[in-house]
Amino acid sequence: MIENILLNLQLLAPFFLLFIFPVLLFFFFSSSGSKKKEASITTIPKPYPLIGHYLDLKGVGNRRIQWLSDIVKISPAATFTLHRPLGSRQVITGNPATVEHILKTRFSNYIKGSIFINNLSDFLGTGIFNADGNTWKFQRQVASHEFNTKSLRKFVEHVVDVELSDRLVPVLASAAQQDQTLDFQDILQRFAFDNICKIAFGYDAEYLTPSTEQSKFAVAYEEATEISSKRFREPLPLVWKIKRLLNIGSEKRLRIAVKEVRDFAKKIVREKKKELKEKESLEQVDMLSRFLSSGHSDEDFVTDIVISFILAGKDTTSAALMWFFWLLSKNPGVEKEVLKEIMEKPETPAYDEVKDMVYIHAALCESMRLYPPVSMDSKEAVDDDVLPDGTVVKKGTLVTYHVYAMGRMESIWGEDWAEFKPERWLEKVETGKWKFVGRDSFTYPVFQAGPRICLGKEMAFMQMKRLVAGILRRFTVVPAMAKGVEPHYFAFLTSQMEGGFPVKIIDREASC
Ligand code: HEM
Repeated sequence: MIENILLNLQLLAPFFLLFIFPVLLFFFFSSSGSKKKEASITTIPKPYPLIGHYLDLKGVGNRRIQWLSDIVKISPAATFTLHRPLGSRQVITGNPATVEHILKTRFSNYIKGSIFINNLSDFLGTGIFNADGNTWKFQRQVASHEFNTKSLRKFVEHVVDVELSDRLVPVLASAAQQDQTLDFQDILQRFAFDNICKIAFGYDAEYLTPSTEQSKFAVAYEEATEISSKRFREPLPLVWKIKRLLNIGSEKRLRIAVKEVRDFAKKIVREKKKELKEKESLEQVDMLSRFLSSGHSDEDFVTDIVISFILAGKDTTSAALMWFFWLLSKNPGVEKEVLKEIMEKPETPAYDEVKDMVYIHAALCESMRLYPPVSMDSKEAVDDDVLPDGTVVKKGTLVTYHVYAMGRMESIWGEDWAEFKPERWLEKVETGKWKFVGRDSFTYPVFQAGPRICLGKEMAFMQMKRLVAGILRRFTVVPAMAKGVEPHYFAFLTSQMEGGFPVKIIDREASC
C-alpha cells in the first residue's frame, strides 16, 4: 500500500515540478506589494537564500526608490548588490567613478541589454530608448540634427512661445478667475506633449485643448508606461510572460493600451508620409521627415521612433517643472530671485535672453538634483568586469546608477545637501551678475552621461526656462494639498507625484 503511494508520488513528481511548482511561484510572486512602510535604514539588509531581498522589496511597497537610496548612501563605496530571487544580482551604485566606468570608460560593455529590451519592447519596439548597436547609432545620428542652435531657436521662439501664449496662459487665467484647482502634473505633461509633437513631428496634438479622443491616448500612454515599468519589478520575469501568453490581467490591459498608443503614433507617421508625397519639398524639415527620407521608412520602425520621442519629451520636462514649482512654493527667497531675473528680461524673451536666465537654470538643476525626472537607470554587462571599487560584475548582471540617491549624498553635495539652494550652482562675477558653474555629468547624471547622454538636454532647459518665465511673470502657483501633506515621489520610467499636483493659480495683477 505505502509502496503504491510512494510509486504514485514518484510518478507525480515530474508533474509537480512541471506544473504545480511554477503555479505556486506565480501566485507567491504575482501580487505586487502596494503596502507602504516607512523604511529607516541603518544597516544593509541581508539577503535570504533563494528569495534574496524579495521580502524587503515587497515590504517597502512604493517607497522602493527611497529605500534603495538609503541603502546606497550607507554602503561602502556607495555600491550595493541587490539579490533577486533564484540567484540573480543587480548592482546599484551612487559612486561617480562607477558611473563614469559604465557610461563612458567601458561603454561598449554596458548596454541596454536583453532584460531592458524584453521588458519594454511591446511598448517601445526598437525606438532609441530601447535599442543598442547600429539600431541605436542610426537613430541617434539622424535625430541629432534636430538639436542644433537653429532648431532650438525655432523651438523656443515659435513653438514654446505659441503654446504658452495661446494655450497655457489662457488655461491658467481661467483657473485663476474661477478659483479652480488644477492638477499641475497633468497640465505640464500636456504642455510638454504638444511641444515635442510640434518640434519633432511637425504635428499639433492640441493636447492642452482637451477632447475625448486625445484623453484616450493619454490614458493609454500612462497605462502602457506603468505596466511596462512594473515588469522590471516582477521578481521572476516568467510571471509577466505567462500573463502575456494567456492574455490576462495587466498584460491584457497592456496589449490594449499599446494598440491605442501605436494607432496614434501611426496616424502621425501616415500623415507625414502623405505630406512628403504631396509636396516636393517641405517648408519645415522636422525629425520625422528626416527619418522618413533616410531610407528607413518602414512604418513600424518609424512608429517606434515616434513613441520613444514622445516618452523623451512628454514626462521628463513636466516632472522636472512640477517639482520645481513645489520647491519654489516652499522657498520664497528663491522665488524672489527667480522673479527678479524674469523682470529684468522682456515679456517675450528671445532665444538668447532665455539662454541667459542663469539663476533659473541653477534653480532647475537644483530641483532635479533632489527630484530627478529619471530616478534610476540600468545597463546590462556584456562580459564579466570589475568596477573601480572592486565590485565583481558577472556577465548579464544589471548595473544601476541611482540618480535620486546621488543627488542626496553628503559626500557629493556637503552637509546642506537637503537644502534647495540654487546658489550651489552659481558664482558671482565682477559685474555682480551670476555665472553658472556646472557639475560633471558623472556626479550629476540627471541627463545620463557619456555617448548616450540625453539628446534633448538643451531643448529641455530652454523649454523649462521659457515656461517658468512665462508663468511666474503673471501668476503665482500655490500647492493645494491638505496642510502638512508632503507629496510622494515615485516613478514609472519617469518620476511623478503620487495622486498628481493640485494647485491654485493666483493672478499677480488681480491680487495686488
Ligand atoms: C528635464 C528633462 C529631461 C531629462 C531629465 C532627461 C533625461 C534623460 C536620460 C536620463 C536619458 C537616458 C535614458 C536611458 O538611456 O535609459 C535620456 C535620453 C534621451 N533623451 Fe532626455 N531628458 C530630458 C528631456 C528630453 C527632451 C525634451 C528630449 C527631446 C526629444 C530628450 C531626448 C532624449 C533622447 C533622444 C534620449 C536617448 C539618447 C540615446 O539613447 O542616445 N530628452 N534623457
